[in-house]
Amino acid sequence: MFSKGMQSRVVKVSLMIVGLSVAGAALAQSARDQLIAERLAPVGSVCLTGEACVTGSSAAGSSASAAAPATAQAASAEFSASATYEQYCAMCHNTGMANAPRRDDAAHWTARVAEVGLATLTNNAITGINAMPARGMCATCTDEQIGEIVQYLSGVTAQ
Ligand code: HEC
Repeated sequence: MFSKGMQSRVVKVSLMIVGLSVAGAALAQSARDQLIAERLAPVGSVCLTGEACVTGSSAAGSSASAAAPATAQAASAEFSASATYEQYCAMCHNTGMANAPRRDDAAHWTARVAEVGLATLTNNAITGINAMPARGMCATCTDEQIGEIVQYLSGVTAQ
């Protein structure tokens, strides 16, 4: 069917394709490694009220915190309460870590808002309370933004 010359060209082209996909796989793997490293990094920067925070070399040296200012700037231009919640608050308030009241515990939030009011909840989130770190560790969040996230978290909106 194929002439000899044609056959060897087909072989060469297929070898090139194999070579390209091997290089592609290697690139994809290194991108995955970097992503995994970035996802693992923020865990090291958790700190609780009353405990010494890891703010120095290890936190500043991680690629995640190096990327943080750019993300924060984008966030302040286009703030989203739910996205900021997912980024900063979810790890405690979705899991109940450190006895944080969970976002899905509607009964807790309704009772707590009735007890002290949304303004006090917001203020406690800003200043920190017990194991709840100030601003939920969102250093770039404004008071107003924390207020919006507290409404998202509690499911109770300001009148
Ligand atoms: C390191 C874990 C942690 C993170 C991160 C965190 N919280 Fe909390 N949060 C807690 C804990 C623990 C409590 C319960 C404190 C208590 O009442 O003793 C709490 C309580 C609260 C309360 C209720 C305060 C009250 O007076 O009942 C609000 C509101 C709140 N957090 C908002 C937030 C917001 C908003 C964020 C993200 C910007 C956030 N939290 C991030 C741990 C966390």
